[in-house]
Amino acid sequence: MTLLEVRGLTRSFGGVRAVDEASFDVAAGSITALIGPNGAGKSTLFNIVSGFLRAERGTVRFAGRAMQRRTPHRIARAGLVRTFQTPRALTKLSVLENVLLAAPHHPGERLGRVFATPRAVRSHEAAAEREARRLLELVRLDRHADEYAGTLSGGERKLLDFARVLMTEPRLILLDEPMAGVNPTLGGQLLEHILELREERGVAFLLIEHDLDLVMRASDTVVVMNEGRILTVGTPDEVRRDERVVDAYLGAQG
Ligand SMILES: Nc1ncnc2c1ncn2[C@@H]1O[C@H](COP(=O)(O)OP(=O)(O)OP(=O)(O)O)[C@@H](O)[C@H]1O
Ligand SMILES: [Mg+2]
Repeated sequence: MTLLEVRGLTRSFGGVRAVDEASFDVAAGSITALIGPNGAGKSTLFNIVSGFLRAERGTVRFAGRAMQRRTPHRIARAGLVRTFQTPRALTKLSVLENVLLAAPHHPGERLGRVFATPRAVRSHEAAAEREARRLLELVRLDRHADEYAGTLSGGERKLLDFARVLMTEPRLILLDEPMAGVNPTLGGQLLEHILELREERGVAFLLIEHDLDLVMRASDTVVVMNEGRILTVGTPDEVRRDERVVDAYLGAQG
């Protein structure tokens, strides 16, 4: 079943077509890698899909619904969330508070406030805090729960960002270079979590990743981008054997 359907997305900056008629699908519960050389348009594509940037043309459908005019917040509420290549933690809040802010449906956020009793609010908050602490444990940041997020290293902020998106109970997570700047041990654990979340909760992932070994090991489908275009889509094996991929990607890397 197709969860995300991207069709003909196009976006230019000045004279450069950063994303050029890009079309591809992400299947429900799959791990799809988006690869391509620096400047290929991968992050720009993520920005459009997650609502942070408008496309000039094209459509994004998620779980059968059009997303291309929605705000990032509404897209996230639909179950499609993303992390950033450079995470944006709220540095003056604690690590725990950063995760709690991502929780869905704060009681009182909407109409509920009128009806929610103080006890209901407290018990909801307690449950949210338990979940947030559990997620911080998962990414091994529980020791830092009460410190300012501003004290975390770049790699740790990526892990915090990951915990934050998990707090929203997503169906599809877009990860922009989740392993970059994270030490290899934690990176390995992060990959385990990704596989586990897919297995246990059916969460789908679309991830931008430059580590091709990891891409080949972890993903079901690989989408290759070059100069704004989708060069090809295939299984890791198909992509590995594709000479155009070797030329465009490995050529530009070396
Ligand atoms: N806000 C912007 N303003 C102007 N140009 C931009 C902007 N964002 C991206 N670009 C340009 O669009 C092109 C695609 O950039 P993008 O960041 O999407 O590439 P990428 O594939 O994520 O690269 P990397 O692997 O280095 O992260 C590049 O030429 C980049 O300079
Ligand atoms: Mg990028």
